[in-house]
Amino acid sequence: MKRKTEKEKMSECHLCLLGLIALSSLLTGTSGVNDAHVFISSGENVRLPCNNALHDCTSTTWNYNRFRNSGTVELIAGGKKKNTERQERLSLGSKCSLNVNNISKEDYGFYSCRQLVNDKQQEPDAHVHLHVLHVSQTEISAGLSVTLFCQLYSYPRVSCEDLIRSERIELFWVNQAGVKLMTDSRYQISSSSDHCLITLNITLLNEDHNREWRCNVTQRDQVKASITYTVKSSDMITFPAEAEVRRTAGLLFRVMVIIVEFAVFAAPTVILLQIICARRAGRKDSQHPEETEINTILE
Ligand SMILES: *[C@@H]1O[C@H](CO)[C@@H](O)[C@H](O)[C@H]1NC(C)=O
Ligand SMILES: *[C@@H]1O[C@H](CO)[C@@H](O)[C@H](O)[C@H]1NC(C)=O
Ligand SMILES: *[C@@H]1O[C@H](CO)[C@@H](O)[C@H](O)[C@H]1NC(C)=O
Repeated sequence: MKRKTEKEKMSECHLCLLGLIALSSLLTGTSGVNDAHVFISSGENVRLPCNNALHDCTSTTWNYNRFRNSGTVELIAGGKKKNTERQERLSLGSKCSLNVNNISKEDYGFYSCRQLVNDKQQEPDAHVHLHVLHVSQTEISAGLSVTLFCQLYSYPRVSCEDLIRSERIELFWVNQAGVKLMTDSRYQISSSSDHCLITLNITLLNEDHNREWRCNVTQRDQVKASITYTVKSSDMITFPAEAEVRRTAGLLFRVMVIIVEFAVFAAPTVILLQIICARRAGRKDSQHPEETEINTILE
């Protein structure tokens, strides 16, 4: 028997690899043309559609994969919730859809809905890619600047660039007026297409108290999810020059409060005293002995 040449071995190896790739994509059911893409912001509730549902959901299984090589987690089987760490946030919705409440960034991934009748799969699996938009921030440094990170968490994480290209996804920051922010003297925007991350560094001004910054994700130019971040007054330190103005204004305000309080409480007392005095004056005219006595004591 002829020994295999190096070349033959190589091509066998390639075939083997191709087979493995095909098998693994079958197992984890990676990206299909008909896959649904659902976008949601963390903290919101989401409904994942099951487009192969039968007349009832007793045949429904929902499976989940976070990573390409992570094990498949069975969330729902036979229409019932399985014992998973997320079970409290899950429920079956209309047409056997999967409802997930209070989305966290760890919920992103690949979900598939399958119908099993007597252990026999009825239809091809229905695939849903859940993309979660999440904002995090750095500490406000010396009350002067803050950096906000807006990230889209998605499966599969081959590269965000592929996702951006194939699904025409865009991530960007907008101001309160809904206008897209660009880098200028106040805002520094940078993005990492590796991680589907867009970073906004803001030089804070005093009027930024309670101001909202919004991060949008669009797919084919349509807004798919949006999340806001608010700089709270307590997070900010006022700048020295303005702090003095604020302190004076604060003092003025307190003085005004005292005057108003005084007016509110003092006015009825004065009126009451006046009424009492008027009554007493009236009674003195029709002199009753006992009253004269009391009045004398009082006076
Ligand atoms: C939602 O989840 C976050 C943690 O991810 C938790 O802090 C928050 O209390 C939850 N909200 C509700 C309404 O359950
Ligand atoms: C934001 O940018 C400024 C200017 O480049 C820098 O000094 C500051 O450290 C940045 N802030 C944060 C929180 O990264
Ligand atoms: C960003 O999303 C918000 C909320 O959906 C929307 O009102 C706003 O117009 C969007 N801005 C842009 C520039 O797409």
